[in-house]
Amino acid sequence: MYKINCIGILTSGGDAPGMNAAIRAVTRAAIFNNVKVKAIYHGYKGLITGNITEFKTQNVSNIIQQGGTILKTARCTEFMTKEGRQAAYDNMRREEIDALVVIGGDGTLTGARIFAQEFEVPIVGLPGTIDNDLWGTDSTIGYDTALNTIMQAVDKIRDTATSHERLFFIEVMGRDAGFLALNSALATGCETAVIPEKQTSVEELEDLIRNGFRKSKNSSMVIVAEGGVGAQGLAERVKQNFPEYDVRVSILGHIQRGGSPSAYDRILASRMGVAAIDALLDEQRNVMIGIVNDEIVNVPFSKAIKDDKQIGEDRINVLQILSI
Ligand code: F6P
Repeated sequence: MYKINCIGILTSGGDAPGMNAAIRAVTRAAIFNNVKVKAIYHGYKGLITGNITEFKTQNVSNIIQQGGTILKTARCTEFMTKEGRQAAYDNMRREEIDALVVIGGDGTLTGARIFAQEFEVPIVGLPGTIDNDLWGTDSTIGYDTALNTIMQAVDKIRDTATSHERLFFIEVMGRDAGFLALNSALATGCETAVIPEKQTSVEELEDLIRNGFRKSKNSSMVIVAEGGVGAQGLAERVKQNFPEYDVRVSILGHIQRGGSPSAYDRILASRMGVAAIDALLDEQRNVMIGIVNDEIVNVPFSKAIKDDKQIGEDRINVLQILSI
């Protein structure tokens, strides 16, 4: 193992609130340990093109409260090629970067894993994604903030849904994972959540809506995870069978990714950022920093990106019981 004198840091994939808090923590923890920090702009793209600059502690002042990422981000297809990764490696050597801290979701960690294996580069990942879809961590940086953003938006939609006695289908992000959908439905008292982890037939949905409207409710809200037929598709199907219902669709979109991070995400990002430097100095390689029962853990990339993080059957059950 060689000594780490300089680390490179980048953010990649979809931005997430708390990424800046993580950049701050990694930078300061490195400098605290006499390790130089090189900031890499635009994710892996910046590593390939050499968009790199040294960061001092003042470069990360006043960013803990900011959403987005001051390092910019990108989804880089070139890094998926051997030539792209070779160019990235050449720039690392040129800049005398000994190790990387990458902040992002499953795509980012998948790229890191391949790069680390090919060139024997020490890399530590931080889970930065609103989707919360990485295995081995109870929460990812940005998830709590996004969940709260959705909650606030859905609360507002409820006001108008109730006033007009409407049925709303609200689409939230989460690509292939239903964490945002299921937990925002729980937090806002919605009828149900249509999520990729659990098949919901249109018939089941219609039964639920029929029962809800027939009983005590004069309005209903259903959260739909993006992908599949989406909120629009479901609304159209339901409208055909219930022409008497006043149906509306609301797609929350990218507001879910923005905004100042919650206290939880700032603290999580700060702890994880310090842990990333500790891990590298402790000769840990190719691991993602996770949090389990409030304890920091190191999770091998291969495990973090495997596709079976459990959504929590008990939560599906609670939602069902409370929607009567
Ligand atoms: O992975 C984060 C995420 O916000 C997903 O929930 C969503 O599907 C995707 O990114 C959207 O990506 P883009 O901003 O590139 O359209």
